[in-house]
Amino acid sequence: MLSFSPKRILIDTDPGIDDAAAILLALASPELRVEGLSIVHGNCSVDQGVTNALSILELAQAAHIPVVRGCERPLVQPSLLAPETHGQMGLGYAQLPPPHTKPLSQHACDFLIERVLSAPGEITIVAIGPLTNLALALRKEPRLAQAVKELFIMGGAIRHEGNTTPLAEFNTYVDPHAAHIVFHSGIPITLVPLDVTYQCILTEAHLQKLDPLPSPIPAFLRQATRYYMEFHDQYQAIAGCVINDPLALALTFRPDLCDYQELYVDVDISGGVCMGKTFADFYHMTGKPANMRVALGVCVNAFLDFFVQRIATLSRKLLNEEVEQEG
Ligand code: RIB
Ligand code: CA
Repeated sequence: MLSFSPKRILIDTDPGIDDAAAILLALASPELRVEGLSIVHGNCSVDQGVTNALSILELAQAAHIPVVRGCERPLVQPSLLAPETHGQMGLGYAQLPPPHTKPLSQHACDFLIERVLSAPGEITIVAIGPLTNLALALRKEPRLAQAVKELFIMGGAIRHEGNTTPLAEFNTYVDPHAAHIVFHSGIPITLVPLDVTYQCILTEAHLQKLDPLPSPIPAFLRQATRYYMEFHDQYQAIAGCVINDPLALALTFRPDLCDYQELYVDVDISGGVCMGKTFADFYHMTGKPANMRVALGVCVNAFLDFFVQRIATLSRKLLNEEVEQEG
C-alpha cells in the first residue's frame, strides 16, 4: 500500500461558478489538503465571494477550512466584476443557504504570508482569480517568493483570443499590475491559460451523468452552471460552459493532463488596447530566461471525465456521511 502525504494547497479565488467547481474538485481529491481559501474581488465583490466560499464549504461539509477576506479592488485599475458571466451573487442561479461560519479576521495577504512562511517549500498556491492578494503579499513580505513551493495560475491567453477584451483574459485584465508583479516574482509558476481551458467545455451530457445522485452537490452545480451556460451560448456561441479553474486545480496533482512549455511570459501594463494581454517569447527574442511553465495542450476528455468522476465520488461520500450522521 503506497502511502503518500497530500499536497498542501491554498486557493486564492473569486468564487465564481468555475471557482466553486474547482473548490469542490479540491475537496473531492485525497491527493490534496486544502489549508485555506483566500478571497479576492473578480467574478463578484470580495464580500460576496467570502459568503459564497463559506457556503460552498458548508455544502461540502468542509466548514473547518479557513476563509479569509482579501482585496476588494485591483492595485491600480478601476474595479471590474463579472455579473453577466456569474450572476449578481456570483453563483449563477444557485442559491445556497447563508453560511453559519465566518471568515477569519486576518487579511488574506497576512494569512498567505503567515501560512507559507510557517512551512517554507511545502505549500502550493492555486490562484484562480485576479492576482491582487498575491501581488500585495509579495510586496509586503518579499521572502514569500522563495517560500512558496509552487504556484498554479489560471489566467492569461497566449495564442488564444481574450475573453474580456479581444486580447486579454479576465484575471490578468482585471489586475494586470498584480499579474506583472507575480509573473516576475521568481516563484515557480505553472500558467494555465485560455489556450487549454477553453477546450474544456462542461456540457449538459456531463451534468446528466451526475443527475441520478440524490445529492446537493450535483443540484448546486446544475443551478450554477445553467446561468454560466446561458452566458456562453449568448456571448460566445458555446454549447456548454468553460470550466477554467477546475483544470488549473487538477494540474496540481494530475500534471499529465496537459503538455507544457517553459517560456518567458509577460503581461502588458502599458494601458493601451493590449492592456492585460499575456504574451510568450517563443523564439527567445527578448533574451530573457523562462519565468514559467505554460500549459499549451490538454487531454480534454480525460480531464472532463476525471472532473465528473471526482464530483460523483464526493457526492456519494457526502451522502453516506449524512446517512451515518442520521444513523
Ligand atoms: O477568465 C476566466 C477566469 O476569470 C476564471 O478564473 C473565472 O472564474 C474568472 O475568475
Ligand atoms: Ca476564478
